[in-house]
Amino acid sequence: MSGSGFAYTNLFARSLPAPALRFAGYPKYNFIGGHNDPTLIPVDGLIAAATAALRKEGPKLAMYTAAQGAQGYLGLREFVKSKARRRGIDCSTDDILITAGSGQGIDLVNAVLLEPGDTVILEEFSYQGAINKLKRDGQKIVAAPLDEDGIKVDALGEILGRLKRDGTTPKYIYTIPTVQNPTGSIMPLARRRQLIAVAQEYGVPIFEDECYADLIWGGREVPPALYSLDPQHVVHIGSFSKTLAPALRLGYAIADWDFMSRMIACRSDSGCGALEQMVVAEYFSQHFGEHVDELSETLKGKLDTMVEALEREFGTAVEPWIPKGGIFLWMKLPDQVDIMKLVQPAAAAGIALNPGPEWSVEAAPARSRLRLCFALASKEEIRAGVAEFARVCYEQTGIPVRSANVQRARAGE
Ligand SMILES: Cc1ncc(COP(=O)(O)O)c(C=O)c1O
Repeated sequence: MSGSGFAYTNLFARSLPAPALRFAGYPKYNFIGGHNDPTLIPVDGLIAAATAALRKEGPKLAMYTAAQGAQGYLGLREFVKSKARRRGIDCSTDDILITAGSGQGIDLVNAVLLEPGDTVILEEFSYQGAINKLKRDGQKIVAAPLDEDGIKVDALGEILGRLKRDGTTPKYIYTIPTVQNPTGSIMPLARRRQLIAVAQEYGVPIFEDECYADLIWGGREVPPALYSLDPQHVVHIGSFSKTLAPALRLGYAIADWDFMSRMIACRSDSGCGALEQMVVAEYFSQHFGEHVDELSETLKGKLDTMVEALEREFGTAVEPWIPKGGIFLWMKLPDQVDIMKLVQPAAAAGIALNPGPEWSVEAAPARSRLRLCFALASKEEIRAGVAEFARVCYEQTGIPVRSANVQRARAGE
């Protein structure tokens, strides 16, 4: 409501963030955020799981946290414990905290460790939500360079050495080693060991975000989680947003008790919805493997469709980083394209995209980059949306140049 006449603005806290924008619905070609494939929400399975869970545990809803304590519903923590074993993690249910998405995990780790002005290290391209929270709260972010295997550990060592000479110990190294957001890379085991070694050498903890680690193509062998290599030195978070549904708002953190007990103390809500936790525990304890296998296969098919569409529409003007899993494709257009200038014209044509500078610690290296989510749109929408984006891009920048090859490819010859 507006125009009530009451001047709240006179009372607002000085540290208040900028006002939120009203939700204006979703565009026709929605390639932003971390939405999932709506055809793969296992609705019947969830109905059966909800019925079974309510029959078994329904009366517990009378009590806060369903009488299971601040760390979350035990059945879901037991499932996370068994799922974590797939990542090489050997933990107990006491090491697990169920969170409102992994976004709350990030908030809680930040609450335990950070004060305004602290320094943290992030991968040069990283999750926008993590970057924004840190910028909003006045932390100094130092960017560590990436290659196709993730964070470059020798460059990280140089950064840590330089900071040490300046008298600064970073509060953490935030990394997404298994299906990096936005690049989609998976860090090999040897590099994981080097990363742990350099973090140990400089006494800096690692904050490992594994949102996408269960969505990997083609039975690929995935190296174990960093947490499994050094549980005392690593705090690990994960999510059910990508493996099941982001609207559930369920994630988890794994940490040893010294850290865990502080995270729990920083929490100011009364826990996550117990019904959601019961349903996910019930459904995934029986169907996790088959569900993520089917989802990953579908996602790989959509990725292939998006890559084909980009090659058809943009020819060699686009350089995609082909992801090894997950839901995003990160790519680069020629240097003369300023992607921020394409956001509005694309939106006017019904296309939502994530411009690279918003996924980058420093804007300049991502000036011509963008991220497209291929999970939500159908294959037809992916083809049509990419064609529409190429049209907008051409009108605004003259790229992609309409060479004979591109014309022929567009005509399907
Ligand atoms: C790397 C990463 N971490 C955390 C999140 C937060 O997701 P959620 O709170 O839905 O688990 C996201 C969402 O896209 C992400 O990409």
